[in-house]
Amino acid sequence: MTGSYPATRLRRSRSSAWSRALHRETVLTPADLIWPLFVTEGSGVEEPVASLPGVSRWSVDGIAARAKEAVELGIPCLALFPNTPADKRSDDGGEALNPDNLMCRAIKAIKDACGSDIGVLTDVALDPYTSHGQDGLIDDAGYVLNDETVAVLVDQAVNQAEAGADIIAPSDMMDGRIKAIRMALEMGEHHNVQIMSYAAKYASAFYGPFRDAVGSGGLLKGDKKTYQMDPANGDEALREVALDIAEGADSVMVKPGMPYLDIVARVKARFDVPVFAYQVSGEYAMIEAAAAVGAGDREALVMETLTGFKRAGCTGVLTYHAPLAARLLNG
Ligand code: PBG
Repeated sequence: MTGSYPATRLRRSRSSAWSRALHRETVLTPADLIWPLFVTEGSGVEEPVASLPGVSRWSVDGIAARAKEAVELGIPCLALFPNTPADKRSDDGGEALNPDNLMCRAIKAIKDACGSDIGVLTDVALDPYTSHGQDGLIDDAGYVLNDETVAVLVDQAVNQAEAGADIIAPSDMMDGRIKAIRMALEMGEHHNVQIMSYAAKYASAFYGPFRDAVGSGGLLKGDKKTYQMDPANGDEALREVALDIAEGADSVMVKPGMPYLDIVARVKARFDVPVFAYQVSGEYAMIEAAAAVGAGDREALVMETLTGFKRAGCTGVLTYHAPLAARLLNG
């Protein structure tokens, strides 16, 4: 054959499995994953979450068992969320400050079971503890008060650190909370307790199943648009990230994940800070629903989406698919 031919044939490098492996730019490992878990009261309890097929709330003993499973799978970190009993929810979310609350007991159980073999990331926000389902203290009009809320979040963070939390993750989106929490952690000699700030957290329709899982969905009146970000905004996310870094965040998070990978890429390009993304509950449910009706292969969908997070620039991903993905990666 003579004549013209493509000067470059990119298909050459794709022509066999060994060559695709050799040219692969992005590698996903179990060490990239953070596994979110829901904690509930009791012992020996596993409560499936209807809107999150395959995800359960576990009592504290079950959480310790999941931690051992995570260590076996090579998952380096767990994220904890409590389903606070209804009678312990109040207007001011005071249960968040109880040193013996579900969260603190779960942290201790993980540390007793696994020691320093696994990290524990704890959510700082009041929504699992308030009777109104908002992330902070509200005034008579239902507006979430900033500085008053920050004062409580500081105490919540210190409470979690005292129980043994390794990474404090404020998900509330109040202004100035990273600085206030960092100062309190330093004063309390928690110098090595990290802060991963939910820096760019959007007011998203993808949080529905999570709110079911922590029992705040039915309680929530209105929305969270006066503190969580407008999904239309990107420049503003960079300002949020810049502020949180300046205030002392060790790493930042973008949330939700898949519809916001442009934000991950922009943060990564602009800042030299570890950036994580949260593939949130609605994203998990969407993949499961697609797989359930045969619109895609579950395992392939999971691996493709998680690889996309890494390609966009993520240091790691919070995902309810963490144990499945780790199992697949471990072969
Ligand atoms: C609480 C919080 C939420 C999520 C993580 N922390 C819900 C919310 O802001 O309403 C959502 C996680 C998910 O959907 O998986 N502040």
